[in-house]
Amino acid sequence: MPEPLTFTSDALVQSVFRDHYALDAEKLESLYSKSKRHQWNAELDVDWSAYEPGADILERSRDFLSRLACVAELPADVQARLFREAATFTLSQVLHGEQAALMVCGQLVNVVPDLDGKLAAAVQVMDEARHVEVFARYLDKVGRRYPIDPDLQAIVAQILAETDWEAKCVGMQVILESVALGFFRAGTELAREPVLASFIGNVHEDEARHVAYGVLTLEDRIPNLSDAARRRLEDLAYDSVLRIAGRGGKPSFTTQFAALANAGIDVAAFLPKLLAEVSDPAGLDLDGIEDPMTRTVLPNLVRVGLVPERLLLGYRAQGWRIDLATGAVEDLHTWHPDTRAARAELAASGRTIARPA
Ligand SMILES: [Fe+2]
Ligand SMILES: [Fe+2]
Repeated sequence: MPEPLTFTSDALVQSVFRDHYALDAEKLESLYSKSKRHQWNAELDVDWSAYEPGADILERSRDFLSRLACVAELPADVQARLFREAATFTLSQVLHGEQAALMVCGQLVNVVPDLDGKLAAAVQVMDEARHVEVFARYLDKVGRRYPIDPDLQAIVAQILAETDWEAKCVGMQVILESVALGFFRAGTELAREPVLASFIGNVHEDEARHVAYGVLTLEDRIPNLSDAARRRLEDLAYDSVLRIAGRGGKPSFTTQFAALANAGIDVAAFLPKLLAEVSDPAGLDLDGIEDPMTRTVLPNLVRVGLVPERLLLGYRAQGWRIDLATGAVEDLHTWHPDTRAARAELAASGRTIARPA
C-alpha cells in the first residue's frame, strides 16, 4: 500500500471568545435550526446493500465526454468503463472537497466572532463529517478512489491558510460549495446507480443551506469592509474561478486523464483526437451540460458584491458576460467572438487573463 497523500497547513487562525449569548433568531433559522431538524445518518439511512456493481454511476448524456465523436467510436464495453471511471474521478474530488469543507468549518467555529456564526459553523461541521462518511463509503463500494487533483489541493491549502473568516467564507462557502451545489442539483437527475441516487438529494439539501448561509452572511458583511479588504476578496474570487473553471488555457483537473488509462483506453492514441475536438469546440452540442460557474458560483459572487466593474473584462475573457445591473450571467464559452475580443483587448493593453486589472 502506498503512503496516503498528506499535506499540512500552518495557518494560525485567531480564536474569538465572547461573553455575549444573544441569539439572532432570524440568522439561526437560516442554517442552525434547519440543520438540527434535518440530520440524517449515512450509516443507517442508506441501504448500502442495494448497490449495483455493474450500473452506470452517472447519467452519460450529462457528461461532456458523451458529446465527443472520439468517445462515440469506442467499443461499447470501453465506453461503459470510461463513463464509470470519469464518474469515479468526479466523486473522488467531491470526497476530498468534503474533507476540506469539514476542516475549514472547524476553523470557522473559532474565527467567526458572533455566536450565531459559531453555531452555524458547528452544525455544518457535522453535516460535512456526514458527507465525508457517505462518499468514502460509496467509493469503497465502487472499489476505486482517485487522489486529490493538484489544482483542488492548491485552492484548499489557500483557503485553510487564509486568516480572515471572510476570505474562508468566500473560498469555501460561496465558491467551492457552489460548485458542489451545481453538481448535486444536477445529481438528483444525474445519479443512475441506485445507492448514489438514494442519498445525493440529502447531500444537496445540506449544501444548499451552507451556500445560502455563506451568501447571507457575506451580503451583510462585504459592504462594511474597507476598500482594500473588499478588493482582496474580489481578486481572490476571480483567481479561484479562473483556476477551477480552467478557461485560462490550461484544463482544470488534469489528473482526470488517469481515468482514461483506467478505462483501458490507449491514451497516447486517444488524447490527440480528444484535444483536436475540444480545441475547436464551436460545433459541439453542449445542451444539457450543467456549468456550475454560470448557474451558481458567478450569480452568488455578483449577489454578495464581489464582482466589480474593473474585473468584467477579465470575466468576459474567461467566457462570461456579466450584467451587474440585472445580475445576469451568460456563458459565451471560450470560442465566442466576444470572448476572443476581450482577450485581444487585454493583450493590447499589456494585461493577461490572469492579471486583467
Ligand atoms: Fe458537504
Ligand atoms: Fe457544505
